[in-house]
Amino acid sequence: MRNALCDMYEIDTPLFAFSHSPEVIAAVSKAGGFGVLGAAGMGAERLDRALQMLSRECAGKSFGVDLIIPEEYVGRETGGLSLEELQRHIPQGHRDFLDKLLDDNHISRVPAPATMASRAGLSISEKQGTVLVDIALSYPVKLIVNALGVPPAHIIERAHQQGVRVGALVGAVKHAIKQKEAGVDLIIAQCFEAGGHTGEIATMVLTPQVVDAVAPTPVVAAGGIASGRQMAAALALGAQGVWTGSVWLMTEEAETHPVVKEKFAQASSSDTLRSCASTGKPARQLRSAWTDAWEDPANPRPLPMPLHSLLTMDAQQSIQQDALRGGEGGRRLINYFVGQSVGMFDKVRPAAEVYQAINDECDAVLKRLSQL
Ligand SMILES: Cc1cc2nc3c(=O)[nH]c(=O)nc-3n(C[C@H](O)[C@H](O)[C@H](O)COP(=O)(O)O)c2cc1C
Repeated sequence: MRNALCDMYEIDTPLFAFSHSPEVIAAVSKAGGFGVLGAAGMGAERLDRALQMLSRECAGKSFGVDLIIPEEYVGRETGGLSLEELQRHIPQGHRDFLDKLLDDNHISRVPAPATMASRAGLSISEKQGTVLVDIALSYPVKLIVNALGVPPAHIIERAHQQGVRVGALVGAVKHAIKQKEAGVDLIIAQCFEAGGHTGEIATMVLTPQVVDAVAPTPVVAAGGIASGRQMAAALALGAQGVWTGSVWLMTEEAETHPVVKEKFAQASSSDTLRSCASTGKPARQLRSAWTDAWEDPANPRPLPMPLHSLLTMDAQQSIQQDALRGGEGGRRLINYFVGQSVGMFDKVRPAAEVYQAINDECDAVLKRLSQL
């Protein structure tokens, strides 16, 4: 299982784990994989606390930080608008629609904390991304990753000056070529099956094309990989490793909402869709009354980033609280980003056990195939 990517990133197996939960990152990095902490929406203080913990717990191990600085968002020309300016861009019709959706589902309102407003509204701008990179680079991270666009040149330059590699998620070959030309060191082919923001091309088709287009830049495959058989398949497609997200949502360490964990355990692979319902950009997530409402052509269209998150954060908070209290409306509406592999999840396990199981199965498959 050891390959050149393992030497490059100082890991035992070429398995990257994306998660917003610092404890998942700690468990995977300690076990010998590469944990990448999703920092978008975290805010500077939380990121700093998480990196303090990771630097302590994972001393000598490899971990990184992931940002979202999209190619397109409202306020991009100035690097990001203020919260007040963003609020002014939200149409009253959207606010009224959301109010009615909550009323119809008997959701009592719980305002999101003020810090969440700034996270929802400002976390995906270049300005905030730069703040997060400043924090990340003050810790021993080995990788900075960006989603939804080419990372700004000054971020690539600063990371490289400190000997930190830069990665980027791509959903199409042309985007991979653009990233390579910009100096990105690791391409993550984010395929159709994946949880979160994703494109329209499946893992089996996109991975080998991206591998060929950017060679010799290493590529890791993302989308639908939750077992060793799938990891072996990704290696067979020419990827040097795998990048996983959904599988960690069902671990003991993950901060996934308990009702969401329950829904994931019951879901099949047909229960996700690519929808703009949660961020304003197409992202794969669990189908629920929330996605049904935003997908209904009779209702307002989701707003562009970051307005949609800003519009919906209070509603999301209220739905989560209602679901926790056992409310029927909250249960109907609650959802979360997850990939098609959700149909493979039936129980919650420790992250280190998941890591070991994927690697053991991959090893066994590679041995079996080599005997053919
Ligand atoms: C809950 C969730 C949140 C995600 N958030 C981000 C994010 O903030 N930044 C990012 O680069 N990718 C994000 N992704 C995508 C993952 O990095 C990863 O590419 C994807 O999960 C791989 O496919 P899989 O879900 O089939 O394993 C997210 C995925 C999930 C499931």
